[in-house]
Amino acid sequence: MCGIVGLIRQKDAAGAVLEALQRLEYRGYDSVGLGVIDHKLDVFRKEGKINVLLDSFQGQFPEGGTAIAHTRWATHGRPEVKNAHPLSDGGIAVVHNGIIENEASLRQELIKGGALFSSDTDTEVILRLLLEDGGKVEDALPRILPRLEGAFALAILDERERNRIFFARRHSPLVLGIGEKENWMASDLSAFLPETREVIFLEEDRWGWITEEDIEIRRNDGSPVKPQVKIFPWNPVSAQKGRFSHFMLKEIHEQPRAITDTLSDKLSPQGLHLSEDVVALLRKTKRIQCVACGTSFNATLAFRSWVENIAGIPCEVEIASESRNRPLFPSEGLLVIAVSQSGETFDTLKAVEPFLDAQVPVLSVVNTTGNSLERCSTAILRTHAGMEIGVAASKTHLAQLSTLFLVALQLAELGGTDISDELLALRRLPSVLETVLGMERDIKEIAQRFTATQNALFLGRQRHWSTAMEGSLKLKEISYIHAEAYAAGEMKHGPIALISKEMLVVIIAPFDDHFKKIYGSLREVAARKGRILLLTTKEAPEVSEAEITLVLPTTIPLLSAFPALVALQIFAYWIARERGLDIDQPRNLAKTVTVE
Ligand code: M6R
Repeated sequence: MCGIVGLIRQKDAAGAVLEALQRLEYRGYDSVGLGVIDHKLDVFRKEGKINVLLDSFQGQFPEGGTAIAHTRWATHGRPEVKNAHPLSDGGIAVVHNGIIENEASLRQELIKGGALFSSDTDTEVILRLLLEDGGKVEDALPRILPRLEGAFALAILDERERNRIFFARRHSPLVLGIGEKENWMASDLSAFLPETREVIFLEEDRWGWITEEDIEIRRNDGSPVKPQVKIFPWNPVSAQKGRFSHFMLKEIHEQPRAITDTLSDKLSPQGLHLSEDVVALLRKTKRIQCVACGTSFNATLAFRSWVENIAGIPCEVEIASESRNRPLFPSEGLLVIAVSQSGETFDTLKAVEPFLDAQVPVLSVVNTTGNSLERCSTAILRTHAGMEIGVAASKTHLAQLSTLFLVALQLAELGGTDISDELLALRRLPSVLETVLGMERDIKEIAQRFTATQNALFLGRQRHWSTAMEGSLKLKEISYIHAEAYAAGEMKHGPIALISKEMLVVIIAPFDDHFKKIYGSLREVAARKGRILLLTTKEAPEVSEAEITLVLPTTIPLLSAFPALVALQIFAYWIARERGLDIDQPRNLAKTVTVE
């Protein structure tokens, strides 16, 4: 979603901020802008990608050392130049991530006072409030910020103060980076990591400014805050595609390593080794409620099946945006598990808030460091998938699944169940996934067969309902093929009407206790001439009704989603590639969804 970068140094900040902004391209956006103060403030904006901006001005920007830049993912107002950030007037330029919820009333009030608006954005009210205030930004911000409702990360330039870039944040992420005679700000630290690893994660409701040499952070009441500087470990290889054509393909191939790394601090040679605070929470747990969005939600669906079956603990899962508006039923022993690779998903952050207010503990599963979710959670489990640049989640999902599987095992063990077989299978999982990766050529050929497909239905039962959900999400996200997922038993209650010889039906059915039942669904599809792609294992009987059968390596039934997911990711990838699509940045999608 929208990206912000700000840089202040002696001179030539424009090129560097745009380069840093390119590192945020994976977040998804539809217009771009730059503000630079040299002798005066200049603003450059374009619809489309950063390259369009660079090309149209032939990379020639003022030489000043104070610059902010922004990629905008349209919310209020179409992706047009007039709505691109920075919004500027009267020597002030503002870039903004988030949504100002009381924009309409503020706009009305400002218009009554004579303000003239030039965009359809909610951001412009911030600019107009600053102009109406008329004071220095440093003085105006503490007066204005309390008037804003909603979420914001802001970077602000004021021509009168060319040696400062102002910032503010509430509910939207913003990090600061300390360099050598230069300082940075960005909505995601990957923007400036090649330049500096000294990082300050800003707390909620903070504002301040950076200069070449200094960083000042303030609370809403104006009192100063001592910056907490962290040195962020970073592997530059994660930001390079290497031998792969796309980040997504690279990230798919990184999954055995992502799982090994994720397990490394959670398993010891003796067995489970989750941190004490997590185990203490699990010890008290009698009931679980999960909240998450998208792929992370699909991970919670798989978790539900594990935790209920292995540990006998009841578990509800809810899409975070829905959970927010449901009544809470807190009870002793309730644990909320929030899953989010970014830890910045607005809906997920909002979903955990009422639970925290009701003193219900929240255990978060996150992949990034310093994110908003981990900061408000009672305990965290960090996955170690590494930075994921492809907008469609792949390695972070399998890292989430392996972490959640451990949570289910821990609960089972606390309940007295022997989990040694499951642990052994989990340790062997990376090599099972290597086998699936070795099948890429076969999967690519299957994908080529279905490239022209218009509609697809993914079916799975029980633990493979979530596999079907994720397989269908991957396909629709990157190939734009209309894909739906259903619990296989539900097909006959409606979706069966869609089956025809044009419909691709992907059936996930490793040989296990559910195979017979799902075979029934498969025959119903075959009877209506659907094109069946069956994902199964070698123990299954031959299924002549399937157009294609993909035989996956065997693991224990509880873990059979993992090889199936890798195969489905590769399948979606190759279909999208055959269709010539922008796989790493699919249209309309954002990597981190920081708005409601
Ligand atoms: O960062 P999160 O895990 O909270 O993100 C949740 C979803 O926005 C995300 O999983 C989304 O569905 C991805 N595009 C999946 O590929």
